[in-house]
Amino acid sequence: MAEDAVERVAGAILIEAALAAAARAYAPYSRFGVGAALLLDDGSIVAGANFENASYGLSLCAETVALAAANTAGRLADVVAIGIVGGAIGPGGTLTGEEPVRPCGRCRQILTEAAQLGGRDIVVHCASADGRAKERHMLSDLLPFAFGPDDLR
Ligand code: THU
Repeated sequence: MAEDAVERVAGAILIEAALAAAARAYAPYSRFGVGAALLLDDGSIVAGANFENASYGLSLCAETVALAAANTAGRLADVVAIGIVGGAIGPGGTLTGEEPVRPCGRCRQILTEAAQLGGRDIVVHCASADGRAKERHMLSDLLPFAFGPDDLR
């Protein structure tokens, strides 16, 4: 029970951090802003926002940007949880949307890299831009039977 409360607070803090990061989304093509915040095993947070470009297809998701930043800090194996939030970019930059943003397939694979490196499953907190819809998943449920670095040992 107490663990549930800690878990909920951690999720809320990660969603807050992800929302702050989403303000930095560079998404002039989709006009859909996303922020992601990784919780590391020492309690620190590493965030990222989606980063599009004129090719459209080569755009980088917020989760991938955050994971690359964690890797650059030498902390890819230390990810314990992630918070993700996003929505349509409205006037003044506010995000709108009622549906939780769940990681795309490629991001699930890249999250699996961090999970297997660290020898743990990762908690995935997803939220809608309006803050009303929240979901909590385990990465292994979002990408079951994953292929990862463990398979190459
Ligand atoms: N996007 C993310 O950053 N993360 C997700 O989990 C879903 C989608 C981005 C990619 C693109 O810049 C925009 O949202 C619309 O797909």
